[in-house]
Amino acid sequence: MQAPTLLDLPPGPEQPRAAQALQWITRPREFLLRQRERFGDVFTIDFIDGEPLVVLADPADVRTVFTGGAALMHAGEANRLLEPIVGSRSILLLDEGEHLRQRRLLLPAFHGERLRGHVAIMREATAREVDTWRAGERLAVLGRMQAITLEVIMRAVFGVEEGLELERLRDLVRRMLTLTTDWSQLLLTFLAGPGSPRVVARRRAALAPLDEELGRIVAERRAAPDVAVRGDVLSLLLCARDDDGMPLGDGELRDELVTLLLAGHETTASTLAWCLERLTRHPQALARVTAEARSGADELPYADAAIQETLRLRSVLPIVVRRITAPVVVGQGRFHLPAGTRVAPSILLVHLRPDLYPEPLEFRPERFLDGAPRTYTWIPFGGGLRRCVGAAFAQLEMREVLRETLARVELEPLGGDERITRRALTLVPRRGARVRVVRRVEPAEPSRRRRRSGRYRPPGWPPSSQSPSAPIRARRGSSRSASPTGSRRSS
Ligand code: HEM
Repeated sequence: MQAPTLLDLPPGPEQPRAAQALQWITRPREFLLRQRERFGDVFTIDFIDGEPLVVLADPADVRTVFTGGAALMHAGEANRLLEPIVGSRSILLLDEGEHLRQRRLLLPAFHGERLRGHVAIMREATAREVDTWRAGERLAVLGRMQAITLEVIMRAVFGVEEGLELERLRDLVRRMLTLTTDWSQLLLTFLAGPGSPRVVARRRAALAPLDEELGRIVAERRAAPDVAVRGDVLSLLLCARDDDGMPLGDGELRDELVTLLLAGHETTASTLAWCLERLTRHPQALARVTAEARSGADELPYADAAIQETLRLRSVLPIVVRRITAPVVVGQGRFHLPAGTRVAPSILLVHLRPDLYPEPLEFRPERFLDGAPRTYTWIPFGGGLRRCVGAAFAQLEMREVLRETLARVELEPLGGDERITRRALTLVPRRGARVRVVRRVEPAEPSRRRRRSGRYRPPGWPPSSQSPSAPIRARRGSSRSASPTGSRRSS
């Protein structure tokens, strides 16, 4: 499909591509807000990868994209840059029937009863990390949250327990993650191209040992006598069957495992860092979340609202991207986009609309106390058939990490509001969310009572009737599904 040129598309900044790329990298929020102010809710940027991107900031256009259907809205093509790392069979790279098949195989592992099984891991990983923090210590929260979310994702996905195996895997995963979190690596890929010998050599050095280790873990788990009753994602995927009774192949499994590590770790850590950055700079909100965390209650409504507000105000991914396969009309009928156009619903711009969120730059968890966020106006996890598979997992994890952290330590800010900066793919606090540990607190008795009760419900908790060992069925190449979006809402 021929990609349209800038001349075929809605207006946008006239600066050369390099100048736009520089602003996209260094000041993404200011860059996007400036263009919306100048051009309105639809504008075209000459994107860093050399192809135009039509940015959409009106919820009506976001709806058009998210409800556009699998055949019209291709996301796999738009994620090509990640292919050398996640592999060509990753859910991120697939479209239409193959994408839906993989989605149905993956989704059950992140929903319902299965989520509950991961709560203990989330709490333990947080407690272990936060118990090393000393009174008076100054820390950059981002690095600490990365340590927690990496451990959580490795244990929840691979079911690898403490010890040498976890240590080895952690090292290899960290090396792989530098490919997407280290700017110099990403810039080299952009400038030299994903196929350049230097890029390929670096990638091979980071990926080959991880692939070998993953192959070993998969083979061992496949042969494990308890594989059908284990709750980790790898075991569930090994037992999953599509409608033709076929399991995921070894190559597919490898690509999905790397995808989950990549998609689930950095995003959650960055959002948690932002949440603590915002809370420590808003003492009243921090006091309310802390009171909830120490109350022993199962539900933490204000903490959930604070997480939702953080996801609104500090969306770590500013856009999602689709390539349209047939003409689409946006901008209330003003723009007819030709087939082949890449469109980008902007999470960041939708979340900062004053008509939806009065005083949009203010951090106010209260906005979300009165009910669930609305479809197409709160889109931190994207939407439609591509909505984030790990959205419920991430929200549960963030709640549990906040709970365990604030039950154990009192924090105060170091410095003022932190600027938004880019850490390769995600937007993070410039100084890593700097805080000082004021004092340590013994977790209260109710917290232990709650642990025994074992009732944990993530926001939007979906009921599930599947037993842990029930095989997961997915339809190969079909578009029918009970809930292919993985969401109770339609976004
Ligand atoms: C705060 C944390 C997270 C945020 C903000 C986030 C955000 C997103 C976004 C914006 C998308 C693209 C959606 C679209 O194109 O419409 C996405 C996709 C995805 N995410 Fe997440 N995510 C988070 C955590 C996770 C976790 C914990 C996992 C799994 C362990 C995960 C797995 C995935 C996968 C597999 C996809 C691809 C879905 C598909 O193409 O069908 N994410 N996520």
